[in-house]
Amino acid sequence: MKLPQFVRKHLMARHTDKVDAHYDAYNQTYQTHLGDIIQGSRTVNEKDLLNYLAQNMQLQAGQKLIDAGCGFGGPAVFFVENYGVNIDALTINSEQRTITKTKIALRHLNTKLSVKQGDFHFLSNYFTPETYDGIYFFESFCHAYDYERVLREAVKVLKPGGFVYIKDYLVNESLNGLDKKRFANILDKINRFYKFKFTEQQNSPMGMRALLTQAGFETEMIQPVAYLHDNFEKVSAFHTATQNNEDNYIAGNLEDVFKVVGMYELRARKPLKGN
Ligand SMILES: C[S@@+](CC[C@H](N)C(=O)[O-])C[C@H]1O[C@@H](n2cnc3c(N)ncnc32)[C@H](O)[C@@H]1O
Repeated sequence: MKLPQFVRKHLMARHTDKVDAHYDAYNQTYQTHLGDIIQGSRTVNEKDLLNYLAQNMQLQAGQKLIDAGCGFGGPAVFFVENYGVNIDALTINSEQRTITKTKIALRHLNTKLSVKQGDFHFLSNYFTPETYDGIYFFESFCHAYDYERVLREAVKVLKPGGFVYIKDYLVNESLNGLDKKRFANILDKINRFYKFKFTEQQNSPMGMRALLTQAGFETEMIQPVAYLHDNFEKVSAFHTATQNNEDNYIAGNLEDVFKVVGMYELRARKPLKGN
């Protein structure tokens, strides 16, 4: 049964408030353990991670991009400085906006990089339609309440031929023999701590392909990331530091968590006009 629009909007706002509160509570701990890049799946050398992402987004100098869920602005600053792109960044969290704004000022990037506080379910309220060459979500799409809506909004702000790139956890297709109840329980614990709304159906590679198609994108790739991974030292340290949160099942159980979810990358394009 589809809920009425006003109820959905209310639930969406409530969920987004919880995401915002998660970052209010943990920004400092994220900064201490993960630095400028709030990504759980990473390489030992962070530049390798950002260069990998830039290459797989096929960045080209002069492109105009949106960073949807920009965190502390680490990736956006790197792409502007090293790849000559222009970026408008968005985060739901006001402290992250302030931190990113400070970086922009210190590095004199204000003609190439901007940051706003806002909700990516409403991209076309902040950004002019049909203006952007690309939009990317690094470990941020997972926080969405309504995936269909976020992708529809992404289509609106992109130029024809523009790309969407998503780097995120998806539910593994092979669940390595985990029984259903145990799997559902772990997924529930991940959702509670991180304020996700993962379901086995939507957050699978197949589910995401269907969502992209439904929103009007042509999918170019959905694959597990191929960079040389670290040993999750930073994520473990973050979770150890947040162990007093009663929802923090993840600390000490990372091995279980990575049986259930894996890191994927997805790239899709808005069709050129007339296709
Ligand atoms: C795991 S962090 C990743 C940050 C950044 N992409 C990076 O790589 O460092 C997730 C980000 O998504 C943002 N976010 C979550 N839900 C959002 C929403 N509805 N609208 C805008 N930003 C959102 C959070 O504020 C946070 O910056």
